[in-house]
Amino acid sequence: MNQRKKITIVGAGNVGATAAHWAAAKALGDIVLLDISEGIPQGKALDLMEAAPVEGFDVQIKGTNSYEDTKNSDVVIITAGSPRKPGMSRDDLLEINTKIVKSVTEEIVKHSPNTILIIVSNPLDAMVYVASEVSQFPKERVIGMAGVLDSARFRCFLAEALDCSVRDVNAFVMGGHGDTMVPVVGNSTMAGIPISELLPADQIAAIVDRTRNGGAEIVNLLKTGSAYYAPSISAVEMAQAIIKNEKRILPCCVKLEGEYGYEGVFVGVPVKLGGKGLEQVIEIKLDDSEKAMFAHSVNAVQELMEKVRGYIK
Ligand code: NAI
Ligand code: 2OP
Repeated sequence: MNQRKKITIVGAGNVGATAAHWAAAKALGDIVLLDISEGIPQGKALDLMEAAPVEGFDVQIKGTNSYEDTKNSDVVIITAGSPRKPGMSRDDLLEINTKIVKSVTEEIVKHSPNTILIIVSNPLDAMVYVASEVSQFPKERVIGMAGVLDSARFRCFLAEALDCSVRDVNAFVMGGHGDTMVPVVGNSTMAGIPISELLPADQIAAIVDRTRNGGAEIVNLLKTGSAYYAPSISAVEMAQAIIKNEKRILPCCVKLEGEYGYEGVFVGVPVKLGGKGLEQVIEIKLDDSEKAMFAHSVNAVQELMEKVRGYIK
């Protein structure tokens, strides 16, 4: 009989606990929910376990403050950190979250040296770099979640404008998870029809703008935190692609080694995700303006990576 896979989620806050909820409902594997806060992961895990008889999922969910319980995880989703507050940029979180992600990664590596890391904590691209430096894992096993979320927002707004099912809208976002992200209009379609043939240019520009500010739009509405439903399902979609060896093509933050002309930068690009983690970086053709926007975004990420180097020593 096949053993169930083991998924650890670090950070039992809004994103982490909701990721546990989605992963349990999909019966992706046994789940360990870890937080520094005592009682919170235990209480949320127990509450989720008590939902199992109603929803009918047969997985174990354990809440804990101890990394011993995370031993031999197949996939680890790191959401530990501080969320964005109103008026705070993602970059403001840099120093505090670098220290958190560093300490979490050190513990995870000790207990699960062969795991695949999915990073969610912000500022995303810089935190993937931190996890990579600290873990010293190969690039195939350190992957950041942002592109799936940003693309979901893009697809959601496009489907609304096109008055069609979200399932028929294919669109994705490249670059860093910040104001410089690049929604790739040229590769966005409704059932294979380019959106530029279906929507006026000014409406597409407004949707691109709304996508870029999608995180801030939710922060401004919630006032006490940032988005978590779409972020958590995005991380779980990536975990599922890995656990089930689905070989999904999803935009993820990974280390580039020559692809798109960049070396050693962690940034969002379309990749193939399967059982080995990152299985291939997909290189798509960008037009000149998309190339320029991507270069601008890479530049912003490189600046953050430079600052982070000072904090991880
Ligand atoms: P939250 O504040 O609800 O949860 C964060 C949790 O991390 C808290 O429960 C806290 O106790 C825990 N934590 C802090 N330090 C820890 C440590 N050293 N070890 C273990 N747990 C620790 O925040 P939320 O909304 O869940 O967001 C989590 C992170 O994800 C933030 O950095 C946020 O900016 C980021 N985020 C990233 C997205 C993306 O697209 N990459 C989307 C949404 C959120
Ligand atoms: C988001 O895009 C806060 O990065 C987070 O919602």
